[in-house]
Amino acid sequence: MGETMKSRLKQMVPLALRQEIKRQLAAREDRRNPITTPRVPPRAETLIGGGDFEHVGDAFFEILKRHGLTPDMHVLDVGCGQGRMARPLVSFLDGGSYAGFDISEPGIAWCAEHYADAREFKFDHVPVFNQRYNPKGTVKASEFIFPYDNDRFDLIFLTSVFTHMFKDDVANYLEQISRVLKPGGMALITWFLLNGVSRTAENPFFDFVYDFDDVTRTTTPKNPEAALAFDEGFVRGLYADCGLTIADIEYGTWARPDSPFQLQDMVVAVKPLNINTSS
Ligand SMILES: C[S@@+](CC[C@H](N)C(=O)[O-])C[C@H]1O[C@@H](n2cnc3c(N)ncnc32)[C@H](O)[C@@H]1O
Repeated sequence: MGETMKSRLKQMVPLALRQEIKRQLAAREDRRNPITTPRVPPRAETLIGGGDFEHVGDAFFEILKRHGLTPDMHVLDVGCGQGRMARPLVSFLDGGSYAGFDISEPGIAWCAEHYADAREFKFDHVPVFNQRYNPKGTVKASEFIFPYDNDRFDLIFLTSVFTHMFKDDVANYLEQISRVLKPGGMALITWFLLNGVSRTAENPFFDFVYDFDDVTRTTTPKNPEAALAFDEGFVRGLYADCGLTIADIEYGTWARPDSPFQLQDMVVAVKPLNINTSS
């Protein structure tokens, strides 16, 4: 089926029905070809994203190593979901530790159960509101204080999280990331960045044609948190405001099909050694 036809069908069929069809197909595939890899949920119980859970996690693990992940590091996974990125780290971290938090209660419950034997792995549920992922949340993302001490982590990563959050929320989260990152530490964060190339790129699945505010666009005005893209200049300004230095941006295939990188854009930033973390 052509991509345009697929995206038209997507718009015509209600979300709940699409999800149920997907779940039934996944359950059938689970019966035919059960998943046996530890910490990989059955297809029908996968809460997070599309694609192959195991493959996506393994691919991001390679990205982490390419950016200097070592076994002794203390890492934070913001919006860790169902542990897709945590899983390959279990047999890798040695002397280091992993912390992950998410607003999705079922995601954290799944991780707590399946990582009970991984002593240096800690998963926390936080009651932050998000219309798509936690409509019963009571805390605004723009005011949430991460439950960690200053200067605690060597490496912080967010995969496909800021692509579901609004501008005041990502501004606060970046400040928090800067606070809990050690001087010299690194933040790897995926975004959809709006710039000269991506604004004119044609991709029916990431068609950010609706202005949400002065710096944000969405694909889905009725449910904007489904996918949000930010003006690149605005994002660069946020990093500068919270004292993080952008070392590189790996532009993803969503807007540059020939890119050697992952689907989303990834901003690689470091916390300077001489920064004063005051709050
Ligand atoms: C597409 S999923 C990605 C999950 C995980 N990072 C991965 O790549 O497998 C988006 C995740 O962001 C989480 N999320 C959304 N808003 C959040 C917030 N304000 N704080 C923490 N997590 C959030 C959702 O609950 C969901 O688990």
